[in-house]
Amino acid sequence: MKKIIVTGCNGQLGREINKYYADKRGLEFINTDVDELDITNIDEVCELVQGEKPYAIINCAAYTAVDACETNKDIAFKVNVLGPRNLAIAAQSVGAKLVHISTDYVFDGTKEEPYMEYDATNPQSVYGVTKARAEEMVRQFCHRYFILRTAWLYGDGKNFVKTMLRLAEDHDTVTVVGDQFGTPTSTAQLVKAIDSILFTENYGTYHATCEGSCSWADFAEEIFRLAGKDTRVVRTTTEEYGAPAARPLHSVLENYMFKMTGAYTFCDWHDAIKEYIDDMKL
Ligand SMILES: NC(=O)c1ccc[n+]([C@@H]2O[C@H](COP(=O)([O-])OP(=O)(O)OC[C@H]3O[C@@H](n4cnc5c(N)ncnc54)[C@H](OP(=O)(O)O)[C@@H]3O)[C@@H](O)[C@H]2O)c1
Repeated sequence: MKKIIVTGCNGQLGREINKYYADKRGLEFINTDVDELDITNIDEVCELVQGEKPYAIINCAAYTAVDACETNKDIAFKVNVLGPRNLAIAAQSVGAKLVHISTDYVFDGTKEEPYMEYDATNPQSVYGVTKARAEEMVRQFCHRYFILRTAWLYGDGKNFVKTMLRLAEDHDTVTVVGDQFGTPTSTAQLVKAIDSILFTENYGTYHATCEGSCSWADFAEEIFRLAGKDTRVVRTTTEEYGAPAARPLHSVLENYMFKMTGAYTFCDWHDAIKEYIDDMKL
């Protein structure tokens, strides 16, 4: 029986992990969220990991409120940097694998081509800085790591898709940024990608997004089309929208490591969002 510790199990990715592995034999999941295991506390982390001696830790915990990170810098640093550091130290002490999730926001978004795993990072927001520093901590303190950089994630929890559908209930139009490009990615696709490498020695840093790209406004239009809503999308610019945290304008990621290792092929973002909205209708 392989034990797997999941942190942040009540978040979008944590829930998807549990859904995906619900019927899989030979795995025992130890699910934790902040009440059971606060990843910022190294003593708690080491005690649990050294007691359970897991095969792997999947870190789904993070402080993901991108704009709030600008004002709550200390919380962002503790959860997004010290947390992964603690998990990396604990994983290394028992020889466990560590899956850690990072983001397209580690890049500045000025490259016109998709970013490769080996491109230099240059985060523009507090959230992006913390996620970039976390990657360094994981690489520094743990040998058996998989870092997956994903983007525009949606699943079971708070996300852009749910926000758009809620707004469509009582708005004829919604204003959405049309000049930031990236790739919406479902937690369902991300979990399959994690599963494809978790039981291998294919360690390293992976870009892990659906294929293709779009703007937030394009994504909103596709959500409304699939959900049968006639809500109109009014396009605005990043500058006009004026969010507290800077976002990369073009943070499309090339899943180069997944392609080179042949481990997993992500589907196109259109197919992933169709599956998600079809599931919601069931
Ligand atoms: N969401 C996106 O668009 C996106 C894009 C790119 C990358 N990512 C990355 O993907 C990963 C998963 O994201 P997600 O959307 O699934 O996140 P999420 O839904 O925000 O879930 C994060 C979970 O971590 C918990 N948590 C917060 N502080 C904690 C602590 N100190 N100890 C233990 N648990 C703690 C949260 O609890 P509370 O809710 O109580 O705080 C929540 O249950 C994260 O690493 C994120 O940075 C996300």
